[in-house]
Amino acid sequence: MLGVSLASSLALLAGTGLASAAALPQGYPGNHQYDYVIVGGGVAGMVIAEQLSQNQNTTVFLLEAGPDGTNAASINTPGQAFSTWTSQYAWNYSSTAQSTLNGAAPALQQGHALGGGSAINIMAYCRGAPSVFDEWAEVSEDDGLKWENLFEDFKATVHYENTTTGPQDHLNASAYGAGPLAVTSEIIEDGFSDHFHDALASSLGLQDRDLNAGFGIGNNRASAETIRASNRTRDYALEAYGWSMAGRANAHILPNAWASKINFDGKRAASVDYVVGADNKTQTAHGREIIVTSGAINTPKLLMLSGIGPAKHLRDFNITVLLDAPAVGGNLYDHHYPVLEYEVHPNITTSFLQENKAYLNEITAEYKDNATGPLANIGTSFALARIPDDVLIANNDTFHLSTPEDRGHLLFQYGSAPMIRPAPNASIISVWVALVQPEAAGQVRLNSSDFRVAPLIDSNYYGSKNDMSAILWGYKKLRSIMESPDFDGVVKREVYPGSNVTSDADIMGALKASSQSFHHVLGSVSLGRVLDKHFRVKGVEGLRVADSSTFPSAPTCHTQADVYAVAHRVARMIREEREVC
Ligand SMILES: Cc1cc2nc3c(=O)[nH]c(=O)nc-3n(C[C@H](O)[C@H](O)[C@H](O)COP(=O)(O)OP(=O)(O)OC[C@H]3O[C@@H](n4cnc5c(N)ncnc54)[C@H](O)[C@@H]3O)c2cc1C
Ligand SMILES: *[C@@H]1O[C@H](CO)[C@@H](O)[C@H](O)[C@H]1NC(C)=O
Ligand SMILES: *[C@@H]1O[C@H](CO)[C@@H](O)[C@H](O)[C@H]1NC(C)=O
Ligand SMILES: *[C@@H]1O[C@H](CO)[C@@H](O)[C@H](O)[C@H]1NC(C)=O
Ligand SMILES: *[C@@H]1O[C@H](CO)[C@@H](O)[C@H](O)[C@H]1NC(C)=O
Ligand SMILES: *[C@@H]1O[C@H](CO)[C@@H](O)[C@H](O)[C@H]1NC(C)=O
Ligand SMILES: *[C@@H]1O[C@H](CO)[C@@H](O)[C@H](O)[C@H]1NC(C)=O
Ligand SMILES: *[C@@H]1O[C@H](CO)[C@@H](O)[C@H](O)[C@H]1NC(C)=O
Ligand SMILES: *[C@@H]1O[C@H](CO)[C@@H](O)[C@H](O)[C@H]1NC(C)=O
Ligand SMILES: *[C@@H]1O[C@H](CO)[C@@H](O)[C@H](O)[C@H]1NC(C)=O
Ligand SMILES: *[C@@H]1O[C@H](CO)[C@@H](O)[C@H](O)[C@H]1NC(C)=O
Ligand SMILES: *[C@@H]1O[C@H](CO)[C@@H](O)[C@H](O)[C@H]1NC(C)=O
Ligand SMILES: *[C@@H]1O[C@H](CO)[C@@H](O)[C@H](O)[C@H]1NC(C)=O
Repeated sequence: MLGVSLASSLALLAGTGLASAAALPQGYPGNHQYDYVIVGGGVAGMVIAEQLSQNQNTTVFLLEAGPDGTNAASINTPGQAFSTWTSQYAWNYSSTAQSTLNGAAPALQQGHALGGGSAINIMAYCRGAPSVFDEWAEVSEDDGLKWENLFEDFKATVHYENTTTGPQDHLNASAYGAGPLAVTSEIIEDGFSDHFHDALASSLGLQDRDLNAGFGIGNNRASAETIRASNRTRDYALEAYGWSMAGRANAHILPNAWASKINFDGKRAASVDYVVGADNKTQTAHGREIIVTSGAINTPKLLMLSGIGPAKHLRDFNITVLLDAPAVGGNLYDHHYPVLEYEVHPNITTSFLQENKAYLNEITAEYKDNATGPLANIGTSFALARIPDDVLIANNDTFHLSTPEDRGHLLFQYGSAPMIRPAPNASIISVWVALVQPEAAGQVRLNSSDFRVAPLIDSNYYGSKNDMSAILWGYKKLRSIMESPDFDGVVKREVYPGSNVTSDADIMGALKASSQSFHHVLGSVSLGRVLDKHFRVKGVEGLRVADSSTFPSAPTCHTQADVYAVAHRVARMIREEREVC
């Protein structure tokens, strides 16, 4: 399959299955009736399309607004991941200007490719704390979401690939199953990772844990990453799930197909309008059921464009209200973090070294020939920690005090590149501390009735007093950790915020000015508020949502693992319903 794009490989199916397969990828003739039209070929869309189309009698049409990046080196090479964020493979979204950030408007790119966010993310694979899923089970009344049950879906979506270098005792083999997505975990030999791990352990008093095995607090010597052991390429929803459908006549995957509206027959979702490529001609795909998996920003946008959302807001855009659903677009959570920057000893492996062309050629050849070196990995050590009770009590922070005890509040991580502009002319390590249990939620709203116009994303970072005091504590804690003797001979000096920044007010200013999205948006069309226990939109028929927008609250760690598992759970639910009929 290597070297052949997915769309053209599907086109080869002409004559072997449904007549319309022959039309791919030039365009879809319309008026075909599918069992399931799935809108958004990201993590959730790929998993559900693959799972449902395992039954040859079930026809599935998966539309994806972004392109097919199968052969893109920027997607496949772990060390090039950041370059995808400013490419055709990303929706170049940003937050609206935030008063809580002194007017800053953090970038909020989303995946725009077959595979969605998993095509451009940093590949960390880390499950949430058990109590998160137990809470979702309670909110939704779906017992399948309880950690002990969802654990089977987590395992069913991934397998662990042992590596040939380094010890593997930081992983717990029983947390992984035999699913299609590959996960590996290499100890990073960049001269920094071990120091960071040791400093986090001693300063935060944390034990090493495999955070995929039912822990929401702990230290991690090396993140688990969705990278294949064999050739050190990114594994992601397209590779793990999309390609499994290439031989199936009952599954159609169409990239560059941007859905503009869901059409209803009375209160029943009946079809989806979409445009392909630059052509403005609207095509229509009909489905017995429509499943929306466009991600936590674009799913609420599509629902609102289709008449499902806060009635007054829709009327402001002359959109006919099909269902007044005030909760659509609200409850938008994201992990977010302020950054500190350090100049490090020149023998630490950072992106700065790549400014030397000879070095860049060397590591490029090393990756190509041996699948090793800095381009073969992007993982780091990191930790999840709770803010001590006495600190929360002193801050009157009853919110974080009341989160279940297995949940970290803060995620400490680093990256080997500058994350604040302008970048100094030196070897820089960025470290950050993310608020992973924020109290304040933001919202997604339309900015136009034209589907081409980006929505307004009010991120509302640190939008409560508790969130502010929690992150201030975290930022100061991280700064003090970086002073630890574990970094002797490694860290040369603090670059940001800098030695002149000492008062709480100035630290708060630096924190706000450096704050960024972790790109873990979720919750905007959530279970309980908008969806029933079957993930169906309450108040209409034939319409389900199954992506990260369904999460009622924020998990404790990076989010993709949870999306794979929840999508797998939804697919199982749908198949069981079909068998009953
Ligand atoms: C830059 C970045 C870095 C990240 N880093 C990590 C990480 O290291 N670890 C981790 O666990 N998580 C990470 N994440 C988060 C993770 O990738 C997401 O949680 C996950 O991809 C969400 O899955 P989803 O199915 O909800 O949506 P997505 O994967 O975003 O898929 C939605 C898909 O729908 C398509 N779409 C949207 N609107 C339409 C429309 N109208 N018509 C047709 N198609 C449409 C989109 O193009 C996209 O492909 C990162 C995300 C980003 C963006
Ligand atoms: C598909 O449908 C045919 C005809 O109704 C039936 O005989 C067959 O068992 C079905 N196959 C599956 C996998 O459901
Ligand atoms: C993305 O959006 C930002 C902010 O609006 C803008 O500065 C930048 O040029 C855009 N990037 C691309 C690649 O379009
Ligand atoms: C990985 O392989 C090494 C060497 O064969 C072995 O010692 C280790 O137990 C394996 N780890 C896992 C998690 O399978
Ligand atoms: C390993 O993972 C299992 C769940 O798969 C868990 O029950 C067990 O406690 C974990 N062991 C350790 C040492 O963390
Ligand atoms: C980098 O250099 C420092 C100071 O010379 C030394 O202590 C350290 O061991 C070196 N680290 C690596 C990874 O080579
Ligand atoms: C990497 O290896 C996998 C099989 O393990 C293969 O499917 C994939 O195409 C390879 N990727 C590249 C870019 O070579
Ligand atoms: C499609 O419509 C958009 C918005 O109306 C317009 O900007 C664009 O030029 C059109 N493209 C084509 C190919 O007609
Ligand atoms: C809505 O329709 C009214 C009446 O036709 C028009 O005046 C108004 O400009 C429209 N508003 C928008 C946002 O299109
Ligand atoms: C690949 O690995 C071999 C064996 O370790 C080594 O001799 C060779 O230099 C490496 N190639 C590159 C380009 O680094
Ligand atoms: C906490 O609440 C008490 C009693 O209302 C008040 O005196 C104190 O200033 C508050 N502390 C903080 C940090 O807000
Ligand atoms: C960066 O510093 C190096 C010396 O460390 C110098 O050769 C180079 O010219 C500098 N680059 C810029 C853009 O200042
Ligand atoms: C600290 O110094 C930097 C660089 O000179 C400057 O940009 C920043 O505004 C100063 N901050 C404070 C709080 O004085």
